Amino acid sequence: MNTELDTLSVVVVGASGDLAKRKIFPALFALYCQGFLPAELTITGFARSEMSHEEFRARITEYLTCRYTPGEKDCAEKMEAFLDRCHYVSGQYGSTDAFLDLFMHLQQYEPHSRTNRLFYLAIPPSIFLDVARAIGSAGFVYCGETAPWSRVVIEKPFGHDRDSSDELVHELSLVFSDNQTFRIDHYLGKEVIQNLLVLRFANRIFEPLWNREHIRSVQISWAEQLGVEGRGGYFDQYGIIRDVVQNHLLQILSLVAMEPPDHLASGAIRKEKVRVLKCMETVELDDLVLGQYTASEDGDPPHPGYADDETVPDDSLVCTYAAARLHIDNPRWQGVPFLLRAGKALDRKTTEIRILFRDLDNCVFCGPEGCPHPNELVIRVQPDESISFRITNKVPGLEMDLEARDLDLQYDTAFSELIPDAYEDLLLDVIQGEKSLFIGSQELAAAWDVFTPVLHAIDENRVRPLPYPFGSTGPAEAMDLAVKAGTVWRQ
Ligand SMILES: NC(=O)c1ccc[n+]([C@@H]2O[C@H](COP(=O)([O-])OP(=O)(O)OC[C@H]3O[C@@H](n4cnc5c(N)ncnc54)[C@H](OP(=O)(O)O)[C@@H]3O)[C@@H](O)[C@H]2O)c1
Repeated sequence: MNTELDTLSVVVVGASGDLAKRKIFPALFALYCQGFLPAELTITGFARSEMSHEEFRARITEYLTCRYTPGEKDCAEKMEAFLDRCHYVSGQYGSTDAFLDLFMHLQQYEPHSRTNRLFYLAIPPSIFLDVARAIGSAGFVYCGETAPWSRVVIEKPFGHDRDSSDELVHELSLVFSDNQTFRIDHYLGKEVIQNLLVLRFANRIFEPLWNREHIRSVQISWAEQLGVEGRGGYFDQYGIIRDVVQNHLLQILSLVAMEPPDHLASGAIRKEKVRVLKCMETVELDDLVLGQYTASEDGDPPHPGYADDETVPDDSLVCTYAAARLHIDNPRWQGVPFLLRAGKALDRKTTEIRILFRDLDNCVFCGPEGCPHPNELVIRVQPDESISFRITNKVPGLEMDLEARDLDLQYDTAFSELIPDAYEDLLLDVIQGEKSLFIGSQELAAAWDVFTPVLHAIDENRVRPLPYPFGSTGPAEAMDLAVKAGTVWRQ
């Protein structure tokens, strides 16, 4: 009898690629080691590259880790058992024949003729639809919502703008229903991001303060030290707003700003995320500072600039840095600036959320030199997950000296548990049919609406990004954007 979870066939399309090797197979192995995958399991890699099963297994072994099965012998046994279930088939992406061929191969390995099937499209977005249609025409997709099920996972970017995203949603829905489609934003699988709702709604102190009366500004920053490093082909079609700001940062922002959901089911959480996204004012050109990195100012030889990369056109106007000021027009947030910034080739690697509370204006400790430092909540997503809360404290001693200090929760010392990779959590949710960490179609549309007009204005006006040197903090003008919003960027 084929019940919800007793058989599973995972097909990774684009299995020769970077995402498959670095994230998908290690996550599947981690779930396998922890006993989350059914015993009757088949994993098949599909791509155009010619490879034998053995070459494919050798390729994916490189990134499998023993974190859930310490001990050399145990780990080697688990790895062997896992790799025994992994096979590889090569074929052309848009070809129904290639997928019929895959189907013939699967019949050799799959324990049942009607197995639950998960398709992971780890391929460039330009071929999503061709592949989905070929999967559909090869007869892989079960219609019903119950077992045996077919589900498809796709990775951002989901379109270029609102129209292309709507078209992708519609065309894909002709093969996989919305319920069968799992749109991944892997930031939503990160431990600290999943903790946002817990932090906000399972701690009494935050909800009464989480509003315009007490919060001066919210800042969400994403910084990477690397440039495009020879992978500019993809990036140059999208730029930093489409690659990071409009999806990862807007998703984080919607979790920070949403109203409490009625319950924890995915529908209730998504409903609140859509509501807050719809209250966001459309971003205008004046709300943005755009930059593109140039060669580093030191180093021997200096690190090349973005347009010097051989995979990027010399005259590219694509932004590798963007700072944006957003406003949410609802009673909770009216007048509070939300500042987002993302940049490549910066001086640090970090993703963090900073909630800056308002200044104290009438307190017994206010004096001629001002008032105590305002409170600040810092949620660090990566690296070194942590939550810290800045408070004002008396410095021990005979004087009444005050100083701002952090209450500090560092995940690596506070928890002995391993922090799962985001892909482990997300893949398990796909297998279990749990959708709260995936992007719904309404949410996607609302998120595109915030940025689509300004993205078109940037393209139509050929807006030239400001230069900033590789390894710097980004364009200085981003500071002015924060000042105009009545706040300052915090590092
Ligand atoms: N890498 C990441 O960390 C990451 C993070 C977030 C999202 N994503 C998204 O995940 C997907 C896969 O990413 P990836 O980095 O693994 O991509 P990738 O390595 O560039 O491509 C995956 C595979 O697709 C095939 N391919 C590449 N370019 C193609 C083209 N122009 N036409 C047809 N086939 C092509 C190649 O396989 P064959 O030549 O063997 O067919 C390649 O091995 C993309 O949608 C990307 O936007 C990736």
